[in-house]
Amino acid sequence: MSDSRIDALQLEHIEHLQAAYADILNQHGYDAILIGSGAAPMRYADDQAHHHHGYGHFLHWTGLAGTEHSWLLVDKDGGARLFLHTPVDFWHATASIPDAPWTQRIDVTGQPGPEAPDIDYPERLAVIGDPAQVSDVKGDLNPATLLSALDNLRVAKTPYEVACIDHANAIAAKGHEAAREAFLAGASEFEINLAYQRATGQREALAPYHSIIGLNDHAGILHYQYYDTRSPARPRSLLIDAGVRYRGYCSDITRTTAAPGENRFQALIGGLESLQKRLCEAVAPGVDYMELHRRCHQGIAALLKASELVHTLDDNAIVERGITRAFFPHGLGHFLGIQVHDVAGKPRPSPEDHPALRLTHCLKPGMVVTIEPGLYFIPSLLEPVLDGPDGQYLNRTLIDELKGCGGIRIEDNVLVTEAGARNLTRTHLPV
Ligand code: GLY
Ligand code: MN
Ligand code: MN
Repeated sequence: MSDSRIDALQLEHIEHLQAAYADILNQHGYDAILIGSGAAPMRYADDQAHHHHGYGHFLHWTGLAGTEHSWLLVDKDGGARLFLHTPVDFWHATASIPDAPWTQRIDVTGQPGPEAPDIDYPERLAVIGDPAQVSDVKGDLNPATLLSALDNLRVAKTPYEVACIDHANAIAAKGHEAAREAFLAGASEFEINLAYQRATGQREALAPYHSIIGLNDHAGILHYQYYDTRSPARPRSLLIDAGVRYRGYCSDITRTTAAPGENRFQALIGGLESLQKRLCEAVAPGVDYMELHRRCHQGIAALLKASELVHTLDDNAIVERGITRAFFPHGLGHFLGIQVHDVAGKPRPSPEDHPALRLTHCLKPGMVVTIEPGLYFIPSLLEPVLDGPDGQYLNRTLIDELKGCGGIRIEDNVLVTEAGARNLTRTHLPV
């Protein structure tokens, strides 16, 4: 989609927020709301700061990830004013007043200091944001019911938000292609990360989360956080979970690749990919995401059986005995938007037997969810099963052979539409 089309959608997005905020402020009895952008905290006992990503509700209006010490005031008629921090600072690059089309809807004023704008505030003021920034402002600080209403407003994405997430997928897809090529050429985790960053044109600090790039057994560490600078002597597998942020919105994509000759692991990837595609195709309005998660466990059980990792038991027994959880310990996915694990995902608690599930909604048009089944060889989860009464049903020899490949995760970003779903990842990254 062209930049000018996205700009036009952004104006409609802001108009939607103006009307929705006016309703919500009136319902909650406020004349206005002041939203702090937040600012990066300093590292303890140091003069260096962490990297700032921005407060979700501030980004919902402005998309200005990384902007600090700034404030957005929205009144009960939906009028919006941005007070942008424009300090005099010869150590750093500083913000200047933007002239992008969205400034037709949001009035922008520069202010040199980080404090809340010095203006006449209406009497009933809500103030939201990181307490480190907002706690000195007079008003109702982070009122819980108001915050919950604003979180819920982020559940159904506007066409602008969908266009941004789609674009973040298009850019990340280039990175995933480059990462796979680098792996097949023998690159280390560190070099694969460089290939990803080069192809996406985004430094890692700006990405929605630290890329997870694991070779071999590291692919079985769910949020593996290091990059080895040396390639393993025998590269067997790559798992890369990496996204991009575009105008504040995230993509969150995972692909797993087997090295040539890893036929059993490749067959397992193929089996998990078919399951993942079936689950993506099952996304539709009215579908209970918790049921989709349970369906995923049934699919994992069938795959464990078909690949002879588990024998004798039928699929239901494999799930009921908790064996699928030892191979697939996380949830099927989550909301995606301004935050990679976007807000308001749990109107109901996660089921007791699946505490890691982050999304418990019945799906509705406009929601963007991830679908990310996994199948891993995680020693700390498998050993208790192997050493317990169910160990007799597991194929130890095969587990020993495959555990050096770590694991598999395949993750797409899927929009719920009126008619069903649109896969925002596979249009750009079919494999
Ligand atoms: N990248 C983190 C996740 O997939 O949830
Ligand atoms: Mn995810
Ligand atoms: Mn991910």
